[in-house]
Amino acid sequence: MKYNFDEIIDRSNNYAVKYDETKEKFGRDDLIPLWIADMDFKAADPIINALQERAMQGIYGYTSRPIEYFEAIKKWQLEKNNWEVDTSLMSHALGVLPMLANLMHTFLEKGDKVIIQPPVFHEFKNVIEAWDGEVVINQLIEDNGKYFIDFDDLRNKAKQGAKFMIVCNPHNPVGRVWSKEELETIANICIENNITIISDEIYSDIMLWGNKHTPMASISEEIRKHTITCTSSTKTFNLAGLQVATVIFPNVDMKNQYDTILKKIETYRNNAFSIVANTVAFTEGKEWFLEATTYIEENIKYAVDYINNNIPQIKVSIPDSTYLLWLDCRNLNLEGDDLVDFFVNKAQLALNDGRIFGEGGDGYMRINIACPRKILEKALYQLKNAVENYILDKYELISGC
Ligand SMILES: Cc1ncc(COP(=O)(O)O)c(C=O)c1O
Repeated sequence: MKYNFDEIIDRSNNYAVKYDETKEKFGRDDLIPLWIADMDFKAADPIINALQERAMQGIYGYTSRPIEYFEAIKKWQLEKNNWEVDTSLMSHALGVLPMLANLMHTFLEKGDKVIIQPPVFHEFKNVIEAWDGEVVINQLIEDNGKYFIDFDDLRNKAKQGAKFMIVCNPHNPVGRVWSKEELETIANICIENNITIISDEIYSDIMLWGNKHTPMASISEEIRKHTITCTSSTKTFNLAGLQVATVIFPNVDMKNQYDTILKKIETYRNNAFSIVANTVAFTEGKEWFLEATTYIEENIKYAVDYINNNIPQIKVSIPDSTYLLWLDCRNLNLEGDDLVDFFVNKAQLALNDGRIFGEGGDGYMRINIACPRKILEKALYQLKNAVENYILDKYELISGC
């Protein structure tokens, strides 16, 4: 490997949300923070070099978006997903979440319904409600750690009308890569009911174990006409702080409506550094990205083996995608806040509480394993000790053994 992902990088001067906001969020700062979804890895050398070069120019004035910027995305999609994208249907956002907010702002009217599939990225619900939409729940079905779509329920809900369905493709937090057939079934239900699909593909590059991502809009021309695709370089290349994302519209009219809102709220431009990083990432970042994916796979194997062998009270499945593990902690028999309290105050870990992801999240915790192996080893060791010292002791007291 060219890159050393084992390197432990001090993020104390990094203004990292994951570290700097741990105390505010979890009440103490002596925790291993494995929550918000960025990586504790340095970015690819070509990106660092290009940013340094840009910084050394010393002029950071208003910045336009060169054609190479969108061309780089087009080329990446073609090479990676065999998907031919029209650059004239692309537009910008400060992130996929700002993009979702812009989409709601542009197209949603008070009371319009939007279907989501919890447990899912919590901000979907927040952003719909923030723009006065009504959230419609099509809860995923869990079967022995694997998640499936409840198509009967989706058909019923879709018939009752909705403006959008947000599909998390692939799915955060459960790690599913949806098959082409599953996506096609979703799309057909949406099309029959005149629902526009918003396909959030922010994690789509992080395909593990040779899995293949299917861009929703690539399935057929008919589906493309009903799909807005949200993409980004930020999860793939660990660039979230640069605040950049690209949306691909089904038609010019929708793009124009969206761009009008971007202009009205004056967030039409990129910042100077995001232009450079995004373009270089997609054109020169492949080696880093492939090595990072391998490291993530190794971390997942390590974590799953460790948990299965040492903490059998917690169930964990191997995800198809993402660098997130969805820990089923229901056998710890701790309810709600008590589970969070256990992770914070006994295991000294800052993870995401499964409840934030909505229906089906109670009793689960999400751990971000995109960190150097030594940190992961320490975190899991702390968890094992906490289970042995506090949970098993409790059982012994209860059962009188
Ligand atoms: C599915 C999904 N969409 C969007 C986002 C937010 O993306 P951004 O940082 O580009 O706003 C996240 C962040 O974790 C996510 O998991």
